[in-house]
Amino acid sequence: MHKSVERRGDLRDANTGRASRARAGAHALAIALAGVLCALPAAAEDGYDLWLRYVPLEGEARAAVAAYGAAIVAPERPGPLERSAITELERGFGGLLQTTVPVTSEFRPGAIVAGTLQSQPALRQLSLPLEGRGEEAFHIGRYEIDGQPVTVVAGNSGRGVLYGAFALLRQAQQGVPGTGLESTDAPRIALRLLNHWDNLDRYVERGYAGQSIWDWWRLPGYVDPRYEDYARANASIGINGVVLNNVNADARILTSAYLAKVEAIADSLRPWGLRVYLSARFSAPSEIGGLLTADPLDAEVRRWWRAKADEIYARIPDFGGFLVKANSEGQPGPQNYGRTHADGANLLAEALAPHGGVVMWRAFVYSDTDPEDRVKQAYSEFVPLDGDFADNVLVQVKNGPLDFQPREPFHPLFGAMHATPLMMEFQVTQEYLGFSTHLVYLGALWEEVLDADTYARGPGTKVADIIDGSLFGNELTGIAGVANIGTDRDWSGSPFGQANWYAFGRLAWNPRQSSSDIAREWLRMTFTRNPEFVEPALGMMQASREAVVDYMTPLGLTHIMGTGHHYGPAPWVDDLDRPEWNPWYYHRADADAIGFDRTASGSNAIAQYADPLRKRFESPATTPQQYLLWFHRLPWDYRMPSGLTLWEALVEHYDRGVAAVRQMRATWDSLEAYVDERRFRKVADYLQIQLEEATWWRDACIAYFRHVSGRPLPDGVAPPAESLDYYRSLEFPNAPGN
Ligand code: GCU
Repeated sequence: MHKSVERRGDLRDANTGRASRARAGAHALAIALAGVLCALPAAAEDGYDLWLRYVPLEGEARAAVAAYGAAIVAPERPGPLERSAITELERGFGGLLQTTVPVTSEFRPGAIVAGTLQSQPALRQLSLPLEGRGEEAFHIGRYEIDGQPVTVVAGNSGRGVLYGAFALLRQAQQGVPGTGLESTDAPRIALRLLNHWDNLDRYVERGYAGQSIWDWWRLPGYVDPRYEDYARANASIGINGVVLNNVNADARILTSAYLAKVEAIADSLRPWGLRVYLSARFSAPSEIGGLLTADPLDAEVRRWWRAKADEIYARIPDFGGFLVKANSEGQPGPQNYGRTHADGANLLAEALAPHGGVVMWRAFVYSDTDPEDRVKQAYSEFVPLDGDFADNVLVQVKNGPLDFQPREPFHPLFGAMHATPLMMEFQVTQEYLGFSTHLVYLGALWEEVLDADTYARGPGTKVADIIDGSLFGNELTGIAGVANIGTDRDWSGSPFGQANWYAFGRLAWNPRQSSSDIAREWLRMTFTRNPEFVEPALGMMQASREAVVDYMTPLGLTHIMGTGHHYGPAPWVDDLDRPEWNPWYYHRADADAIGFDRTASGSNAIAQYADPLRKRFESPATTPQQYLLWFHRLPWDYRMPSGLTLWEALVEHYDRGVAAVRQMRATWDSLEAYVDERRFRKVADYLQIQLEEATWWRDACIAYFRHVSGRPLPDGVAPPAESLDYYRSLEFPNAPGN
């Protein structure tokens, strides 16, 4: 009989009653302490301000920043983005120095001179290193103007000035002295977008941070001021576009009534450099346009899309374009009419081209009727279309060939399409990574992918080189992150979830940055600059990605999460209609062996990778262990380089994952003195949930794999707390985001 369990509360009561009581005691103490601490401003922190807190600096750090942030010289007639930059400099330095920073036209010592060469004539005499670097470039440097030592924040456009202002503030928040300020920078990727999987009823698909921030019902009459705060936060990390609605799109977003709402959002995001894009439903011409078909080669359909694009641009002149999920997981698309993905993409591209818009056509396709290995299907379908897409089309590809797993090899489309700009799609929301209650720093995952060598043009041709256009010379470049943002007060549902939003933006700006540098600057701005906090917290973040791989899907296992909601372990599921929706499809464990043979004797997915990767993946001995069971089916007694059998190594990884989370929790506990009460408690409670759920993952997976393999537990290994039947009986009908 199946027992319906309401999420982990019951699990905790069943398994860890003692821990819960101990925590209740700690809570009582915390409440008592909070009474004392609430007099301090830090106690009021609720995460809303993200990394833009601008808390007062003290001592040397204050003196260092006061030397260059004492006044702002604004352009006489600033454009809207420059105005945002000035406001932010005022707010930022005002907060850091706890004073009102005057905005003046007079060059004085210690002033910040912000503007473009056009808006700020005094900058023209300085020969700033900005030429040829694109409109988003900025330069920060120390100069003399009118004999006064000043700090220049110059951009090639208002957008550059805005990014420069945030760059300066990023340094100031970290207490960097004026002498360390010199920088000239420009983004390596042109389109840096968040994708919201938000429905028009405010439900967020795979959202774990409340409802959608887009309040469609009250728009356009009421425009929530939160949109501007959202735009500011994005501008601070260089994000310059946002797809407002779910890829599983509702055609009604393209009706005039909704376009009026979209226009209102676009107006509130524009001053912060964000363009609005929409997910378009391919069947919209028949669903809302009254046509009998949505065939991309039909003249009426083409006319409809052109008229729709004209209508959108009449309202939103800087509209970015369309994102499309077509012929994927039940969505309509050109194949419904016997046409190709290129026919479909080009139809929309033609409508947008006169206005400068782009189409982002997703490559996340797999079919329930195609017996081919699911991870091969996107490549098989898209590579033959290389060269067939219009100039304003990008193909948007998830980082791995499956679906945002804790670890996957990079998608083999990267490197295989030379004539089509490929856009990276990362998932910021943690659909398969424990939702918002698991602390998993995704910067490490994304860095691993961006840094992966595709060998597409010999050694050293990395995924990042494809995304930023340098390898194949494409000018159209893009990267998208599926947002983890909702109505929760702290935006991301957890303090450390914010780090993933932050890291996405920073890597989108420069995909060659180190994820640990990014985490360090985020920690300093979000919590404190004190290295006694920053370094241990950084260690925790950096360990977190490997931890989740270990306690969920070690050694190349994948997609063994619960059906539909993807919460918790369910490696035993093998009875769903669509074969590739069953966890069993991916691990194929039986009494003899485990893993998916993707070599020539199996699905031959390795053939989609360039040599020498293909060669490397041919043999288990040369396949990196982290992808072992992704590419190989191996006997349980297979000898690992460590001398352990595969079964023993698997168990060891599960144990290691739980131990890592226990260590993360201990590290966090040791940092209590450095963090305000509210955020400290939230992270501490979440880490406790994570520890319980990591243990659940470990126990359930070991129980299942022990059962199918018939192997005894290795010596000294703790048996699972419950029976396999118990884990199989758990159900989570109300798990969020599904
Ligand atoms: C995953 C996810 C879906 C989503 C899909 C997509 O399968 O579970 O919710 O719609 O990816 O990226 O289109």
